[in-house]
Amino acid sequence: GSTLCTKIPIPCDAVIAHRGASYQAPESTRPAYLLARDLGVDYLELDLQRTKDGVLVAVHDNTLGRNTNVAEVFPDRADAPVSSFTLDELKQLDAGSWFNAAYPDRARDGYAGLKIMTLDEVIDIAEGGKNHPGLYIETKVPEQFPGIEQDLHEKLEARGWLGDETKSRAEAEQGAVKVGDTPGRVVMQTFSKASLASLEETMPDVPRVLLLWLGEGGIDAAPSEPQGEDESKADYYARQKVASPEAYQSWLDFARDHGAIGVGPSAVQTAHDGKFSSQFSYMELAEPWMIGMAHNDGMLVHLYTVDEPADFERYQQRGVDGFFTNRPEQLLEFYGHP
Ligand code: G3P
Ligand code: CA
Repeated sequence: GSTLCTKIPIPCDAVIAHRGASYQAPESTRPAYLLARDLGVDYLELDLQRTKDGVLVAVHDNTLGRNTNVAEVFPDRADAPVSSFTLDELKQLDAGSWFNAAYPDRARDGYAGLKIMTLDEVIDIAEGGKNHPGLYIETKVPEQFPGIEQDLHEKLEARGWLGDETKSRAEAEQGAVKVGDTPGRVVMQTFSKASLASLEETMPDVPRVLLLWLGEGGIDAAPSEPQGEDESKADYYARQKVASPEAYQSWLDFARDHGAIGVGPSAVQTAHDGKFSSQFSYMELAEPWMIGMAHNDGMLVHLYTVDEPADFERYQQRGVDGFFTNRPEQLLEFYGHP
């Protein structure tokens, strides 16, 4: 994005590359992050976990079966959590071949054998090109990683990613700071209220976003599941329950009380074939009244995870402030950024 949206340097039309450019390349791998960086996104998104030997890594799932060959390399540990592997063990895994098998039309020889990445390696990419995206970091399953917020703080400080917030804020107010400067160069995000509180304590000046979901443990009034992949969007909407205003407001209150600058609700995304499929989000937490409620509280709204121009358009009209997307090339084009 180009325009600053708040007093801190976060663009009003944030392009957040979800696990990198993860439609084009295997998620959370080097080519996915390189592609996103070189496209000129505002942020590289990553899910933070910690290895058994204490190294911060960018991995989404709690286990490794979906997108690595863990079952071949460690047959007895195919369902073991990421936290039970050392970095050396994780680096023995192939985190790219699954993509070639799943998406033959987007497969590349070079994707076979890609490695899981450390946070340090993602930072190297963010720093290494002509464009300098920020990092939008999620503490994933934080209850499994006590103290990960402190570990992250130490790492960001050691890498020079936490700076003089007071100076930066003053410059931002004069429009003199851009993404890539602190604060706003790092945005923290979490589904966990406990982790949000811990982030506030550990890194009070680093912007925080509370992710929202509808259902057990999240905002109440769980929707019914789509009735299989063939249910039309219209039929699904007709059956869908929505969050109550009271429940939505209570999450906004928690976010605001813990100094969050915004919320990250889930979006309903139109599947490529116009039908619902389980790989697409179907929980609507960005109805116009919900976005209005968040904005009334002074919160930015960054929506996950949206890939289709029709969906960018629909939610843009509702006033959202940015998107997590697997297809940053489409979002940059939609926003009219070069
Ligand atoms: O972090 C925003 C979005 O990524 C949340 O969902 O499951 O993709 O981490 P998930
Ligand atoms: Ca995430």
